[in-house]
Amino acid sequence: MAPGKRVRQFTPSVFAEFSRLAQAHGAVNLGQGFPDFEGPLQIRAAAAHALEAGQNQYAMSAGTPVLREAVAAHAQRFYGQRVDPAREVVVTCGATEAIFDAVQAFVEPGDEVVLFEPFYDSYLASVAMARGVPRFVQLHAPDDLHPRWWFDDAALTAAFSDRTALVIVNTPHNPTGKVFTADELARIGALAKQRGAVLLTDEVYEHLVFPGASHVRAATLPGLGDHTVTISSGGKSFSFTGWKVGWAIGPAELIGAIQNAHQWVSFCTPAPFQAAIAQALALPDEYFRGFVADYQAKRDFLAQALSEAGLTPLPCEGTYFLMAKTDGLRQAGEDDVAFCRRLVADVKVAAIPPSSFYGQAHASAAHGLARFAFCKTQPVLDEARRRLARRG
Ligand SMILES: Cc1ncc(COP(=O)(O)O)c(C=O)c1O
Repeated sequence: MAPGKRVRQFTPSVFAEFSRLAQAHGAVNLGQGFPDFEGPLQIRAAAAHALEAGQNQYAMSAGTPVLREAVAAHAQRFYGQRVDPAREVVVTCGATEAIFDAVQAFVEPGDEVVLFEPFYDSYLASVAMARGVPRFVQLHAPDDLHPRWWFDDAALTAAFSDRTALVIVNTPHNPTGKVFTADELARIGALAKQRGAVLLTDEVYEHLVFPGASHVRAATLPGLGDHTVTISSGGKSFSFTGWKVGWAIGPAELIGAIQNAHQWVSFCTPAPFQAAIAQALALPDEYFRGFVADYQAKRDFLAQALSEAGLTPLPCEGTYFLMAKTDGLRQAGEDDVAFCRRLVADVKVAAIPPSSFYGQAHASAAHGLARFAFCKTQPVLDEARRRLARRG
């Protein structure tokens, strides 16, 4: 029997291909977007304790009260955002499920979803499975006139229509490292409001914002709270990507709609990991300060290593990804996929070709770029630098 079109349209992701290539070539893997080190010991101990203490049955579908309270307290502490943990939070299996559920909740077949391109690839898949129609707004790389990744206001306005049901903004942004400003978010949020659309902000890298930029929670901007859903997760902020504890915060009626989808997608998120992430969200300020300082050092080290090797790293305001222009090392006619395949085979350093973050029509915008992850231990980054310096 042939599988349904809904899944037939997908091919294995580029991440799977490059992880396989990295292994086959014994490469230093700067492709994978997850840390090769452990999150805080006391949080791992909290998960172990929860397992041993018997938190091993289904959790409440919307999330354990303890985690929902911790999510609300964290929102108040970092953003002054007032959240009712009983009605305005739903806990999901990672941010990925929250995104999927939200698209299911708000997008009817034929409805339009505004996405910034490049985009985290699960957005397009979620929209496709809901039979929504993506409308892309290009993010342009920094140039002489624009020191940061930028978008054209007219293009933004043109992406909206009477059919716009949802707008997804990822800030800090994977793969570009862009952190959207309050002004940019206010403009996007106002257009969503005019069209009666929901604004979904994916803030999984909220604690990975480097000095010079600051993270703005769109939901706290004037006039945006009533139609904005904020998504985040414990994976990035605490280096536990394998735990898949995510959540959505928003007005009760929007969260209720997401909960309606969530109860039939995963029903609930593993209870022991919810208990541990509740403790992680309450870690003292020193944890969050140390976390970003460590990553800043890694970012600067990798940027230097890429420059020395003849690549041109682009500014990275947040996340643990660096985009680099490859012109210095690219062969004539080589696109980003061919470049990254050659890099992994010859230099034995794996990066991700960013065309995978674009729709087909605009994939060529990524042909001179590669994405490198720096969520890696110093010896791994040292080895990447050595290999890049001797190009093999
Ligand atoms: C922008 C963005 N959103 C969501 C996710 C997925 O988060 P989670 O692991 O919590 O599902 C990722 C992971 O790479 C990401 O980069």
